[in-house]
Amino acid sequence: MKTKGKLVIGGSWRSLGLPAVFLLCLFFFLAGFLGSILFSNQDVSSARPRPMELKSVEEGREFDPLPHGGTGEDSLTSIPFQVLSWKPRALYFPNFVTAEQCQSIIKAAKVHLAPSSLALRKGETAENTKGIRTSSGMFISASEDKTGILDFVEEKIAKATMIPRIHGEAFNILRYEIGQRYNCHYDAFNPAEYGPQKSQRIASFLLYLSDVEEGGETMFPFENGLNMDANYDFRKCIGLKVKPRRGDGLLFYSLFPNGTIDATSLHGSCPVIKGQKWVATKWIRDEEQND
Ligand SMILES: *[C@@H]1O[C@H](CO)[C@@H](O)[C@H](O)[C@H]1NC(C)=O
Repeated sequence: MKTKGKLVIGGSWRSLGLPAVFLLCLFFFLAGFLGSILFSNQDVSSARPRPMELKSVEEGREFDPLPHGGTGEDSLTSIPFQVLSWKPRALYFPNFVTAEQCQSIIKAAKVHLAPSSLALRKGETAENTKGIRTSSGMFISASEDKTGILDFVEEKIAKATMIPRIHGEAFNILRYEIGQRYNCHYDAFNPAEYGPQKSQRIASFLLYLSDVEEGGETMFPFENGLNMDANYDFRKCIGLKVKPRRGDGLLFYSLFPNGTIDATSLHGSCPVIKGQKWVATKWIRDEEQND
């Protein structure tokens, strides 16, 4: 047994000869390269500031508000965010609202839920698109919410996007139960598929109202140009996935700055595996919404 094992090892070494030598070379090259970076770092940092330091340079500094214009504000606002992706342009806002505010929105929406519908393309019917979007939902505008919470949320979204509130559609409050999903789709309407559009959706803000124990992620399968071949299955839960957490916000842009649709903004809701997913969606358009 022993000899046999040795023989096999010897054999595999021989057959791996060239790749192994190549890997060894690569290893020593990288080790040398990293080493040179590490040791040269000190000289570099004394010569000029490292880009890394840009991040922390302002920390702890107090800022005074400037005199503001007629529509401005007299205090500073801090809304923490993380860039999740540039392709599509997606931002994560942790703790955008409180848990209590989420509860209150859910409570108000619960009694009005109805099965969610789809905007239909040419040739599509409610029957042949069954199963694409299986959540329940309702629409409510900020002015209809007597608690004032949606008013607060809308104002904060407007600040985070710097797009005036009047560009937003009413909130769409959605509930996904176990197994419910939304196949991948665009929020913007491609005129080639949906006909001429009076106005277009620029961006979407998703406010997660509940934690989801398992599943229910918002997914961007084409993030950074991945999976964009014709074979992509629109039900598949892949790509950049954002886990819903109560009170967190997710903003992404469906259009490029030049107004054309960003193909990487394709997104969907992975099926909920455990728990329940509640989300408030605000679609933001290029035109003022006067209805
Ligand atoms: C619009 O902008 C995108 C991204 O910068 C670019 O890839 C595309 O070619 C532009 N399209 C037009 C029609 O200008």
